[in-house]
Amino acid sequence: MKIRAMETADLPVVLDLNQSELASVGDIDLDRLTWIVELADHALVADEDGQIAGFVITLATGTAYDSANYRWFEERYDDYRYLDRVVVSAQFRRRGVASLLYDAIEDKRPVALEVNSIPPNVPSLTFHVNRGYEAVGELPQTAGKTCTMFLLR
Ligand SMILES: CC(C)(COP(=O)(O)OP(=O)(O)OC[C@H]1O[C@@H](n2cnc3c(N)ncnc32)[C@H](O)[C@@H]1OP(=O)(O)O)[C@@H](O)C(=O)NCCC(=O)NCCS
Repeated sequence: MKIRAMETADLPVVLDLNQSELASVGDIDLDRLTWIVELADHALVADEDGQIAGFVITLATGTAYDSANYRWFEERYDDYRYLDRVVVSAQFRRRGVASLLYDAIEDKRPVALEVNSIPPNVPSLTFHVNRGYEAVGELPQTAGKTCTMFLLR
């Protein structure tokens, strides 16, 4: 398993992975994914012999990103790395792929991100709490859903 920079040719596969997990990550199209990757400080894929097993996208502070969750951190913290989205393909889960992707982005701290807590995204909540992320707030979303906001300090 190799962690490498996301390339333009990867975007359709990354988009499919994102859209396969809309209960957990935000709905986007190819134009929006391309824009987010342009804003990103890291856009990485986990590559298993040419197959994309997962991806992560992070942003620095002070970008034009219009996500309400990013804005929540922008209003409260000065210098952090925002993890916008991470997905590991179902067939590659519980094999340490997300752990490898996080190892590649946690050099800059704090790392800020949100996880759905109502209804709960149990795998992601467990992953992040086990990795040392601390809940620092909550942000209601549309349709009665709520995210818990996390920081790795
Ligand atoms: C959350 C997610 C990224 C984890 O990816 P992963 O590659 O399976 O995670 P790892 O294999 O690195 O797991 C590391 C540790 O996290 C915890 N963990 C991960 N998945 C878990 C699960 N389903 N249940 C309980 N604990 C879990 C475990 O402690 C695990 O260590 P272990 O396997 O030795 O017990 C993956 O489940 C996923 O892509 N889910 C759908 C999209 C999503 O929810 N993204 C996050 C949005 S906030």
